[in-house]
Amino acid sequence: MGHFTFIYILCLLANSAISQSFKNNEIPTEDILESPLCCNLTAEHVELDYSSKIVENEYIVMFNGYYKNQARINYINTALNASGISNWKIIERENPASDYPSDFDVVILTDTDKLEGLNALNSHPAVKRVTAQRMVSRTLKFINPEYVRYGRKSLNSKNPFWQATGRHTSRRLLRAVPRQITTVLQADSLWNMGITGKGIKVAIFDTGLSKTHPHFRKIKERTNWTNEKTYDDGLGHGTFVAGVIASSKECLGFAPDSELHIFRVFTNNQVSYTSWFLDAFNYAILKKINVLNLSIGGPDFKDHPFVDKVWELTANRVIMVSAIGNDGPLYGTLNNPADQMDVIGVGGINFEDQIAKFSSRGMTTWELPQGYGRIKPDIVTYGSAVKGSHIKGGCRTLSGTSVASPVVAGAVTLLYSGVLHRGDVINPASMKQALMASARRLPGVNMFEQGHGKLNLMKAYQILNSYKPQASLSPSYVDLSECPYMWPYCTQPLYYGAQPVIVNVTVLNGLGVSGKVVGRPEWHPYAPQHGRLLDVAVSYSELLWPWSGWMAVHLSVASEGASYEGLAHGHVSVTIESPPGPGEQQPRRSTVNLPIRAKIIQTPPRHKRILWDQYHNLRYPPGYFPRDNLKIKNDPLDWNGDHIHTNFKDMYQNLRNTGYYVEVLGSPFTCFDASQYGTLLIVDPEEEYFPEEILKLKRDVDAGLSVIIFADWYVLRCL
Ligand SMILES: *[C@@H]1O[C@H](CO)[C@@H](O)[C@H](O)[C@H]1NC(C)=O
Ligand SMILES: *[C@@H]1O[C@H](CO)[C@@H](O)[C@H](O)[C@H]1NC(C)=O
Ligand SMILES: *[C@@H]1O[C@H](CO)[C@@H](O)[C@H](O)[C@H]1NC(C)=O
Ligand SMILES: *[C@@H]1O[C@H](CO)[C@@H](O)[C@H](O)[C@H]1NC(C)=O
Ligand SMILES: *[C@@H]1O[C@H](CO)[C@@H](O)[C@H](O)[C@H]1NC(C)=O
Repeated sequence: MGHFTFIYILCLLANSAISQSFKNNEIPTEDILESPLCCNLTAEHVELDYSSKIVENEYIVMFNGYYKNQARINYINTALNASGISNWKIIERENPASDYPSDFDVVILTDTDKLEGLNALNSHPAVKRVTAQRMVSRTLKFINPEYVRYGRKSLNSKNPFWQATGRHTSRRLLRAVPRQITTVLQADSLWNMGITGKGIKVAIFDTGLSKTHPHFRKIKERTNWTNEKTYDDGLGHGTFVAGVIASSKECLGFAPDSELHIFRVFTNNQVSYTSWFLDAFNYAILKKINVLNLSIGGPDFKDHPFVDKVWELTANRVIMVSAIGNDGPLYGTLNNPADQMDVIGVGGINFEDQIAKFSSRGMTTWELPQGYGRIKPDIVTYGSAVKGSHIKGGCRTLSGTSVASPVVAGAVTLLYSGVLHRGDVINPASMKQALMASARRLPGVNMFEQGHGKLNLMKAYQILNSYKPQASLSPSYVDLSECPYMWPYCTQPLYYGAQPVIVNVTVLNGLGVSGKVVGRPEWHPYAPQHGRLLDVAVSYSELLWPWSGWMAVHLSVASEGASYEGLAHGHVSVTIESPPGPGEQQPRRSTVNLPIRAKIIQTPPRHKRILWDQYHNLRYPPGYFPRDNLKIKNDPLDWNGDHIHTNFKDMYQNLRNTGYYVEVLGSPFTCFDASQYGTLLIVDPEEEYFPEEILKLKRDVDAGLSVIIFADWYVLRCL
């Protein structure tokens, strides 16, 4: 039915500094392979690091709609003329998007006029938001854990790439190298059925690609968004990624007959700008897809014109695949946009099914400090010893978490081409649902490490082939007694009087791009299984857009359960509705259940109970908060929201192991009963304390509450 879809490979934006202004530091110069890719090793480990810098005096002015060039100039003129400043300029952008209406401009304001200028722009009714232009620098690091023999120094040798478990040495890992990723994932089975990527448009945002590279059958379009006079890849990265997805010779990619749209957004020096990306995104939407939608409302990510753009892309049926980042093994280190509900966030494993050490871990941290993060990554796949096209022809083998994402993107392209006949049924939500439902769970690995498990191409194909539009949940159940998968929920039972435990479930809606919750989610306790002893409160997004929403389940023990020890069961049901599909009369509806199983114990004695103050901690995305660990010099700013299940995981585990119970306070100090707790833990607070809180804390301490403060370099003014 001529329905084309772009699949964007944003994988390499994984660590995208566009969203991480705070990683604003100089590009590490060590360990960079500066000359053309020379290696002839069996396994090169490659990692992409991103950093971004604010561009002095350049601002991105986002409008609340798409306007022609002249209209935008008029808006800016009107705003700035009225403010009386004279030293400003709109930067002319010449690229393939210039002929179309746009939703932004880049304006230069001088230092002296900055404040007035920004105020004037912000108060113009057509302006949605003004943010700093950022320059993104990417560094490609080649790491080889064993060999140093090609004349380069041993790169990052102190950080073995894959998690060292003691069981496997990296030597064994390297022996696994000759395995071909498309074979391991059984892409051949789909090829044998004649499924080869045909009809799918893949956009690759990278360093470009040569028009005459022998591996590619269908380079449909190459566009230039940089300030360099070439469409070609001068570095090798864009070629490799394109190869994993679509090479048809030597080292085979997943979908050799897919249509490649090469967006050259990084220069040979691996530099890009926010505005290059925004233009390139707009071009893709305007040129190929008719539906346009602007998200208004939603959380205000001040630094993220990018988040809005990604929502807009998926709303236009663009399936977004993105690597979750290389900031593991620390938890809570996901990168945007992989942490978005509408994006497929991919983590990396090796061929022995171990999570890559550097693969970022969940949870998402937008929700902190008041709420609780969502489960991510969505799925994991091999990021080790993946073969792809060499810039000069031939093949090379790379490993690294940023390689796992093109693998999924290639797999998604291939899958999609196999179910094109299913038309509108296939969309960003159903694709994601199929990948998650088919994934194979890895033993001994928790959900914040592996999400739903390992990519299973054939099973995903079967699911998509018979898929019926529906809603689904991630995680699909909550079992507080299942370790280690349900970490951290399985580490501490519920008891009467505790702060509620929050499970923030992602709702995926395959019914349509927009949807709503019908009525309210309902709790159904199972009578013989003590369900009534649980108090279950549900908060949720009434509107689901694009393709997704959330439902947070707040679990606590009812007073009747105060002396119970054992399990309690029930489920929460929620009904989602979307407008009728083409030719349909009735709205689409889908009811999903979230089974819940909780372990209840009697309330521990006061001295065993510790309360962790989350309320005064960092918000995400944070401003410029210096790191607490002053030894980390290359990344002096802290962008991990503190939490016992993210960066304070080890402390939490140690306290649990020694018999303490740790609860999280997401509200002001005036909201808890201190007589229930032995200790209040105030760790690295960033927010101010209200006078009422200070007063209450004083009284609590007088009444026997201990307070432990970790504040290694902040002065806690109020205590
Ligand atoms: C790689 O190295 C081997 C032996 O060291 C050599 O025979 C081969 O030609 C090299 N390949 C390339 C592409 O340089
Ligand atoms: C703004 O000022 C410039 C120069 O002073 C003038 O050319 C332009 O017409 C003015 N635009 C508007 C919309 O007032
Ligand atoms: C890419 O765009 C830049 C900026 O408009 C231009 O200077 C350059 O010549 C273009 N390159 C090509 C190959 O068109
Ligand atoms: C467009 O966005 C609005 C929210 O701004 C949403 O209510 C609506 O459903 C969206 N429509 C489409 C087609 O994406
Ligand atoms: C759940 O996650 C959503 C999406 O990130 C967030 O908006 C919401 O506040 C969270 N809810 C809770 C209770 O944590």
